[in-house]
Amino acid sequence: MLEKDIEKVLVSEQEIDEIAKRLGKQLTEEYKDKFPIVVGLLKGCVPFMGKLINNMDMHLEIEFMDVSSYHGGIESSGDIKISKDLDVAVQDRHIIIAEDIVDTGRTIKVIMDLLKYRGAKSVSVVTLLDKPEGRVVNLDPEYIGKTIPKEFVVGYGLDYDEKYRNLPYVGVLKKEVYMK
Ligand code: IMP
Repeated sequence: MLEKDIEKVLVSEQEIDEIAKRLGKQLTEEYKDKFPIVVGLLKGCVPFMGKLINNMDMHLEIEFMDVSSYHGGIESSGDIKISKDLDVAVQDRHIIIAEDIVDTGRTIKVIMDLLKYRGAKSVSVVTLLDKPEGRVVNLDPEYIGKTIPKEFVVGYGLDYDEKYRNLPYVGVLKKEVYMK
């Protein structure tokens, strides 16, 4: 049913599995003695973060923040609101922020600065997708699943108007879906 709205598949389910394995292994090597907090940015992080932490063979905590910058459309407003904050202190802790996609970089930059201000020992970013052409702030995620062109994508956590997050792959929406 959802598939009929998709123009093309950009990252297949199998490729997402491979990405989660590769990044999970890398994070395990780099953080195994650091008991990090993996901070997921709701709601888009959910499917990828779930798969990623299954591939991290080490002790870690998970936490979530809800930060919004998009308001049902397809362009970033640059307006950021924190509607759910962390439930734990980050002082002297290593933080890995887990995201579905980094576009302008504004959301992550604000969160990184906030967590550093709160005394985190280190803050890094792991993202399923990166759209570097969209960047308006100076930010390079340390762990990137796949770099994609400046296209609006949905699936695997990414939404259009809160829909399509449950697609098991990442795809490009047909134009007529958001031109309606
Ligand atoms: P940034 O602050 O512009 O980097 O925005 C990142 C957030 O914007 C992501 O967590 C997504 O929620 C949303 N976003 C950016 N690009 C897309 C896209 O292609 N599809 C769906 N959501 C997107």
